[in-house]
Amino acid sequence: MDRILVTGGAGFIGSNFVHHVVANTDAHVTVLDKLTYAATQESLDGLPADRVELVVGDIAEPEVVEPLVAGVDAVVHYAAESHNDNSLEDPGPFIRTNIVGSFTLLEAARKHDKRFHHVSTDEVYGDLELDDPKRFTEDTPYNPSSPYSASKAGSDHLVRAWVRSFGVRATISNCSNNYGPWQHIEKFIPRQITEVIDGRRPRVYGDGLNVRDWIHTEDHSSAVLAILERGQIGETYLIGADGEKNNLEVVQAILRHFGRSADDIEFVRDRAGHDRRYAIESGKLRHQLDWQPQYQDFDAGLQATIDWYVANEAWWRPHKDAVEASYAAKGQ
Ligand code: NAD
Ligand code: TYD
Repeated sequence: MDRILVTGGAGFIGSNFVHHVVANTDAHVTVLDKLTYAATQESLDGLPADRVELVVGDIAEPEVVEPLVAGVDAVVHYAAESHNDNSLEDPGPFIRTNIVGSFTLLEAARKHDKRFHHVSTDEVYGDLELDDPKRFTEDTPYNPSSPYSASKAGSDHLVRAWVRSFGVRATISNCSNNYGPWQHIEKFIPRQITEVIDGRRPRVYGDGLNVRDWIHTEDHSSAVLAILERGQIGETYLIGADGEKNNLEVVQAILRHFGRSADDIEFVRDRAGHDRRYAIESGKLRHQLDWQPQYQDFDAGLQATIDWYVANEAWWRPHKDAVEASYAAKGQ
């Protein structure tokens, strides 16, 4: 693949993938990104200009999407509205970008017969009980809880239909919760790190026993590249790194890194419809595509992420007050 279009390539995970492609392949990358509030153009700084080009535009506009798709060998589709809490306040942009935007890209991939990889989430499967021995697999039935996860489930179904009915050469990945540099401070781990930097208490929803299966964003990127290069057309691959932790364990690890007391926590109003637990069984990806995560020491990965937020305060500081004001208005 000589030319790849990466949608959402100025976001948290998409930008990591762009760096990963530049470091590990010879491909040229065109990033298509609307530069919403969630994007950071500087996350692409330092990349060679002859390898990476940024096009600012909307994936839901066919006249923007079509010529770009026509000019590449493959599309890797990350662009999305990605925050559950925002989807509970205003679902509209989630439907437009995640469903209509994915549809628009699929139509262009169909017309120009392009390889398509769709980046999705394990949240499409709903949640598991805390004591359930099962984890999500590629065969788990879809059962999304929030407008965000429902819109991602909708986009997954479109991809499956475009494979079956139109022969689009597509794959899908459903990944667990990512952490690492450049994640917007509205999300759990960066919000808590920046709260503690500001001398405040981490804000934990409900009883804090909700479990997420954490994976470093570098491992997500290596998995997506493996699927793009070696995945079987029409297949879905779950991406996870055996990183189950409850939210209390995560904030306690953050508090520990800052030398603060482990019970210095503010319990706040729970999220509506809050999924209890996510957990990924990623054996298919590991066995069929010979992929392994590299960042399995969560504590070390978290420490590096904390160090990054300490060193990059100039990036997040201008957004902190507005993010906290919006949470405070909801009692969170
Ligand atoms: P993000 O919110 O950090 O970035 C999303 C990017 O998409 C931003 O750069 C934004 O400007 C761009 N975008 C939004 N709407 C657009 C539009 N209409 N047209 C063009 N660009 C648009 O999100 P993220 O956390 O990096 O997630 C990326 C993808 O990975 C999403 O599809 C998400 O569902 C999926 N995913 C995320 C996680 C996670 O833990 N964050 C886990 C599994 C899967
Ligand atoms: P989040 O980062 O929003 O990801 P997701 O909803 O995709 O899992 O939240 C991760 C977990 O942290 C989730 O159980 C909700 C919880 N949470 C808090 O307890 N406090 C917070 O301030 C935020 C943003 C999330």
